[in-house]
Amino acid sequence: MDQNELKKAVARAAADYVKTRLDERTVIGVGTGSTANYFIEYLGEFKQDIQATVASSEDTAKRLKALGIPVIELNSAPEVSVYVDGADEANEYLQLIKGGGGALTREKIIAAVAKEFVCIADGSKLVDVLGSFPLPVEVIPMARSHVGREIVKLGGDPVYRDGVVTDNGNIIIDIHNMSIVDPRKLEQQLNQITGVVTNGLFAMRPADKLILGTIEGLRTLSL
Ligand code: A5P
Repeated sequence: MDQNELKKAVARAAADYVKTRLDERTVIGVGTGSTANYFIEYLGEFKQDIQATVASSEDTAKRLKALGIPVIELNSAPEVSVYVDGADEANEYLQLIKGGGGALTREKIIAAVAKEFVCIADGSKLVDVLGSFPLPVEVIPMARSHVGREIVKLGGDPVYRDGVVTDNGNIIIDIHNMSIVDPRKLEQQLNQITGVVTNGLFAMRPADKLILGTIEGLRTLSL
């Protein structure tokens, strides 16, 4: 099984799970990225039963609408019952690094609202210590140099993601070479830097369930 097959397998498992949770009030939060894209494809198979979704990016909204799946604004959603999204890294505490695709802020907002956050990923994303994957930070453009200097003080190497503008009109700085031993602390320290919109650590609000695809089959971790 290659990585794509593993992504498809976890996306299928998440779609099957969501299907069992549907009622007339269910709003599904939908993530961004290649794994989430497979999930969107599988949602299309039972679109007639879906009342509403909220999308974590413009790209995801476009994909959902193209399949005829209803998309609403988060502010119009009374609640988000379940949010399904991928991750760039995960640890055994279900803390994540997200934002490789640049959608971290909207992803974090939906995760904050969601009653349940189901993370889907191929098994290679599970690590002992977060940080091998560069940690994305969304930044207000005029604060770029300031935020970069503050990241250096925290011990990381900031790298501007050239040419990327987020759905919110901001830039991304990726933090390289940082072994994240205390994800909750670093998440809060980064949030304190003036000019930071949000960072890709999902530690204060981790996933509730992590479905991993491995060659031996699916592995589910829960909090
Ligand atoms: C998007 O901004 C990210 O948070 C994605 O969820 C993450 O990068 C995982 O992407 P893949 O499913 O493509 O690996």
